[in-house]
Formats: sequence, C-alpha cells, structure tokens
Amino acid sequence: MKHVAILGSTGSIGRSALAVVDAHPTRLKVVALAAGDNAALLAEQAARYRPDVVAMATADGLDRLRTLCGAGVPRAAGAGTEGLVSVATHPSADIVICASAGTAGLEAVLAAIEAEKTIALANKEVLVMAGPLVTEAARRRGVAILPVDSEHNAIHQCVHGRPPGEIRRVILTASGGPFRDFPADALERVDPEAALQHPTWQMGRKITIDSATLMNKGLEVIEAHWLFGVSADQIDVVIHPQSIVHSMVELVDGSVIAQLGVTDMRLPIQYACSYPERWAGALPSLDLTRAGRLDFLPTAPDRFPCLGLAYRALRAGGTLPVVLNAANEVAVEAFLGRKLGFTAIPRVIAQTLEAHAAERVSSLDVVRRADAWARGHAREMARGLELTQ
Ligand SMILES: NC(=O)c1ccc[n+]([C@@H]2O[C@H](COP(=O)([O-])OP(=O)(O)OC[C@H]3O[C@@H](n4cnc5c(N)ncnc54)[C@H](OP(=O)(O)O)[C@@H]3O)[C@@H](O)[C@H]2O)c1
Repeated sequence: MKHVAILGSTGSIGRSALAVVDAHPTRLKVVALAAGDNAALLAEQAARYRPDVVAMATADGLDRLRTLCGAGVPRAAGAGTEGLVSVATHPSADIVICASAGTAGLEAVLAAIEAEKTIALANKEVLVMAGPLVTEAARRRGVAILPVDSEHNAIHQCVHGRPPGEIRRVILTASGGPFRDFPADALERVDPEAALQHPTWQMGRKITIDSATLMNKGLEVIEAHWLFGVSADQIDVVIHPQSIVHSMVELVDGSVIAQLGVTDMRLPIQYACSYPERWAGALPSLDLTRAGRLDFLPTAPDRFPCLGLAYRALRAGGTLPVVLNAANEVAVEAFLGRKLGFTAIPRVIAQTLEAHAAERVSSLDVVRRADAWARGHAREMARGLELTQ
C-alpha cells in the first residue's frame, strides 16, 4: 500500500489522481489533501477518502471547509504555504502528487523532497521557476521526480533509466491547440471562450490557454531540460494534432522510441504511482485502426511566438525562466479577464523578459524576488497594451 498526498486535489489533475486511487483501493491510500478555494469539493473528498489532514489556500477557505464538514472535519494542516508544506511532508506519505496550479506549490515541493518523498510532478511551473534548486535537492536526497505531464511521462517511459549521454534528441509532441490552422489576423480576434476549447485534452483554464498560445509547450521544453538533462538544442517540438503519440526520444544510434496511449491523464498519473511496477489499469485500449492518420507537422513560430520566448529564456538561463512564467501568468489572467487580446500575451512576456536583468538561481529568495518583479512589470505592460486594444 502506497500512501498518497495530493496538492491541488480539487483540480483537473487532482480529480484524475483520486480516480486512480479509486481504481486501486488496495494499492493506494490518501493521507493528505490540499486545495485552493473549492471548500465544497474538498469537503466531499474529505468525507470520501478520510485523509488525516487537509489544507486550503486561505484561512477563510478552511473556515468554510470546517462548516461544511461539521463533526467529520479532518485535522487542518493550515492555510497557504504552511498548509501545503504540511500536506506535502505528512509523515506517512510515500508519494506527493503535485498538482496545484501556479507557483504556490514551490516551497511544498522542496519540503517534500527534503522529507524524502517520491514526487509525482504535474506542476511544471515548479521546475520552470526553480529547476536548479529542485533537481539539486532531489539528487542530494536521492528522491525520484516522476513526471505526470503526459509528454514528460512518455519520455520517462522511453528513456527508462538510460544515461543522458545516450539521448540525441527529445521530441515533444503538441496538439497545436484550437488555433493551429488560424491565420495571424484571425488570432488577433480570438476570445477566452474559443481559447478554452482544447481539441484533445480536458484541463484547467490556465493550462488550456497556455496550450492555445503554445506557451504550455514552451514551459514543457524547460521542464524537459531539467528532468532529462538535455540542452535546448536537443529538444524539438512537433505538432501532432491527434495527441496519440505523447512524445518521443531519439537515441544516439538513431533509433526513435515513442510512447502512445489514449488521451487520459489517469494513465501518466497511474504510471507515476505504480513506478517501477505496472498495474493493470481501468483505461480502454488504444485502437490505432480507429485513430486513423497520425500527422506530424512543424510549429509556426511567427503565429505562436510564446514557444520561441521559452527557448530564449532557457538558453539565457538564470532567472529568465522565472520571469517568463510569471509574465505569462499575468498575461493569461488579463486575457481571461478580457483586458488583453490573445496576441498581446506574447508581447507582454517579451517586453518583460527584455527589461529583466537576469540573476543566477541560487536560492528560493532569488526566485521569489524575480517572480514578484516580473509580475509587477508584466501588469504595467499589460495595462499599456490594454489601452491600445
Ligand atoms: N490538466 C492537465 O491535463 C495537466 C496536464 C499536465 C500538467 N498539468 C499541470 O498540473 C497543474 C494543475 O493543472 P490543472 O489543469 O489540474 O489545474 P486546475 O484544474 O486549475 O486545478 C488547480 C488546482 O490547484 C489548486 N490551487 C490553486 N491555487 C492554490 C493554492 N494557492 N494553494 C493550494 N492549491 C491551489 C486548485 O484548488 P481550487 O480548485 O480548490 O481553487 C486546484 O485544486 C498545473 O501546473 C498544470 O500545468 C495539468
């Protein structure tokens, strides 16, 4: 029996993770749950899975949770970072599934690594912001970071313990999002409703917009660098509209290994929970005769500049990826709030990157400082562009 703590249990990945627990009740047990604001769903989850502790983003959220749970309330681990850290370091947790959105989970992931928990990582922002700190801590503590992101999970399966020296190239697949074939002038006019219609995956709002701009793939390029020890030049992105090949690895001898599967996040989550074993799953088999064609196309950097910005930040290094991520979060929020156009998202990010004096990522303080600076700067940039929309 593996004991599981979940950060972000009320989100898209968190709910899929609980579905994996449901499918394997004799192998997985929930011991701790953390959510952001959705007290009603966390109360339901607490009643069903009976975790030892729960946490929420705010004290107000915890109060609402207590009212909803009544006498059956589990012990509250706390609110904010303190609550997330307590959930992530719960003494009996073996695996921590990191699926909280945004940057709030960074301290908790680092604390879980120090507590020698296995990390099942969905939250790519953690590696984008603090790749050097997270990978160094994991190496020092001998902790495995198992990727839940379907592309990196695929690469983990393809590489399967081979040393970085045997990898020639990592090939990340991207669906291309809902605007894959849109001409540049049509992109100027797309609204949040259209951008939230992902062709192949059901995900949270922020990552769905990132998929439409291709920033999600950009963040994944940076994530792949830290997870697999490959340089920016060794990471390629191809558009694969069917999302059946989840990613590929080319080895030094020219062999290309791919991982295929149905588009369901329960598969990579279960892999991370069962690793190094494989468990019989509840998912349907992939029927390639019904899938039809599998297409692979080049990306269009002129229409989707976010991907290029991510490569630029990775190559420059230091705090630039922190700034890329923070400026993107600000711009996406403004777009979802109808204050910024779709094509202004990369402009806000580019202007913020331009204005930043990069530093080495030597501590969490450096990361948090760069993150706060970038958010302030990006908000100003977004306000400027808002007036001209
Ligand atoms: N969805 C996917 O298929 C997918 C695939 C690969 C990677 N990912 C990554 O996985 C992460 C989660 O994505 P998602 O699609 O599941 O997002 P989501 O549906 O928006 O869920 C986010 C979760 O994080 C929680 N949360 C937000 N702020 C928090 C805070 N300050 N403290 C504690 N919890 C907080 C939310 O709680 P409330 O809902 O209670 O507010 C929710 O449980 C992201 O980093 C994303 O990039 C997702």
